[in-house]
Amino acid sequence: MQDVQNRVAAVTGAASGIGLGIVRALTGAGVHVAMLDIEERALSGARAAFETANVDVQPFVCDVSDRRQVQDVAAAVRDHYGRVDIVCNNAGVAAGGPIDETSEDDWDWVLGVNLEGVVNGMRAYVPIIKAGGRGGHVVNTASILGLWTGPRMSIYAASKYAVVAISESAREDLAPHDIGVSALCPGMIDTRILKSARNRPAAFAKQSSGMVEGDEREEIERRFATEGLDPNVVGEQVLDGIRKNKPFIFTHAALAEGIRERTERILGCFDGVEV
Ligand SMILES: NC(=O)c1ccc[n+]([C@@H]2O[C@H](COP(=O)([O-])OP(=O)(O)OC[C@H]3O[C@@H](n4cnc5c(N)ncnc54)[C@H](O)[C@@H]3O)[C@@H](O)[C@H]2O)c1
Repeated sequence: MQDVQNRVAAVTGAASGIGLGIVRALTGAGVHVAMLDIEERALSGARAAFETANVDVQPFVCDVSDRRQVQDVAAAVRDHYGRVDIVCNNAGVAAGGPIDETSEDDWDWVLGVNLEGVVNGMRAYVPIIKAGGRGGHVVNTASILGLWTGPRMSIYAASKYAVVAISESAREDLAPHDIGVSALCPGMIDTRILKSARNRPAAFAKQSSGMVEGDEREEIERRFATEGLDPNVVGEQVLDGIRKNKPFIFTHAALAEGIRERTERILGCFDGVEV
């Protein structure tokens, strides 16, 4: 979608981090944006920065894991703007621990937001984009951990591998309708993702020990803050990915090496029968 001016986008997880970076880039390019987030106060604070924007930026409280609410909010967004052309299914949370120590609540919470949230978003917005008849674009936020993984990451990586798979399959489904689909696969970005328990519903209280060991946590937090990429840069990368209809949007060139190593490991196991 080369010409994004005056198009309409819905962005989930828009009150913070990458989502907010995406909103900045889109509004800067003349896109009207519905900002969706579960955190009402953070959302109204974030939206205030766009008071004087030349485009229509509206906040909508929406829990992406709530299928019914996602459908209702999508209808409200369509009614307000008259159309939707772009959806960025970006809201996400992180939790984990060694597989045998993971809690049911972590699985339910993380898969509910990261995986079902993307499914809910696509099922709600793709029909609206199709009905507009002018094509469109979907960006699903996965992670570089949607393409390779490590210890303590089973829950988060399972959700993100699934987002990559959904995006690749949907890209084929939607190409005939001139709707592009990109999987956004960020590396380390300076956001509040390590504090995602702030949005954890009381119903999912039982936490596993974490994606990093207790004594490494401070060091990881420090690295995210000092070495993590600015989410506004990611926003511009997403805008570029939409314009060029990229199947994958990567944030860090050096991470290609990890993908190469994993692919070689997979290919090295191809000793099955010849048919
Ligand atoms: N920060 C990184 O290094 C990194 C790397 C790879 C992928 N990601 C992914 O990027 C996405 C954005 O995360 P971020 O890093 O900007 O973190 P963040 O915590 O700064 O922002 C996430 C936003 O999602 C919202 N949110 C959480 N649960 C929600 C729900 N149920 N419904 C609606 N909104 C909800 C939060 O309120 C928050 O505003 C996530 O999908 C995350 O998994 C982040």
